[in-house]
Amino acid sequence: MAKPTHIAIIMDGNGRWAKARGLPRAAGHRAGVEALRETVRAAGDMRIPWLTVYAFSSENWTRPKAEVSDLMGLLKLFIRRDLAELHRNGVRVLVIGDRENLASDIKMLLDEAESLTKTNTNMNLVIAFNYGARDEIARAARKLAQAMAAGNLTAGEITPESFEAFLDTAAMPDPDLVIRTSGEQRLSNFLLWQAAYSELVFMPCYWPDFDRRKLAEAIEIYSSRDRRFGGVAAQDVAL
Ligand code: FPP
Repeated sequence: MAKPTHIAIIMDGNGRWAKARGLPRAAGHRAGVEALRETVRAAGDMRIPWLTVYAFSSENWTRPKAEVSDLMGLLKLFIRRDLAELHRNGVRVLVIGDRENLASDIKMLLDEAESLTKTNTNMNLVIAFNYGARDEIARAARKLAQAMAAGNLTAGEITPESFEAFLDTAAMPDPDLVIRTSGEQRLSNFLLWQAAYSELVFMPCYWPDFDRRKLAEAIEIYSSRDRRFGGVAAQDVAL
């Protein structure tokens, strides 16, 4: 099978990686940013046009205050330090998730990353930040209700295709491959609508140990899968 157009990653296991080394969780998240950098570069080299990463979930607010602030700090650092390189390499940065309730400095950085890179065409890096799929779907339903109230849409016009236009991922392709590290085997409220037909690959390594080779390995596993999208395999059509 052809290589995936869109890979989405649940970067899990930073805390356990740190614990196994007797380090604070913050050190795990810092190492996680390194793995993220390497993965973006590798995906670019492999000509993967879309990469989505789950950087902060709407449920992550329940973590201790200090850890939430570490993660916010890392996002700021990532954008400040890496935006120029991403831009130089023709990467378009997009952000999904609820931006309304974020601190204004974070919101500004996310807006800046998107507007600086909006005409880049080599690769798309989608950062899921303050993202939860149920929240995204509920926000989409709210926008749809507003469009109906304004007379721009009738109930009969609601279809999966028209609904999709209200999601944060409108105009993005669905992920072909969803990778989760750390051995956990669940989606944890990530891209629930968009991953309806994605191939799921669960890798046993913790996120900070993920690298170019692990990405190639996940793509290899994906390539061996038989995607049918609810139909039958091409070779079985005549049987
Ligand atoms: C999961 O590890 C990871 C996260 C909650 C956040 C992912 C964040 C990064 C990779 C670094 C930050 C990058 C940006 C751009 C903000 P965990 O803490 O759930 O690990 P555990 O399950 O082992 O405790």
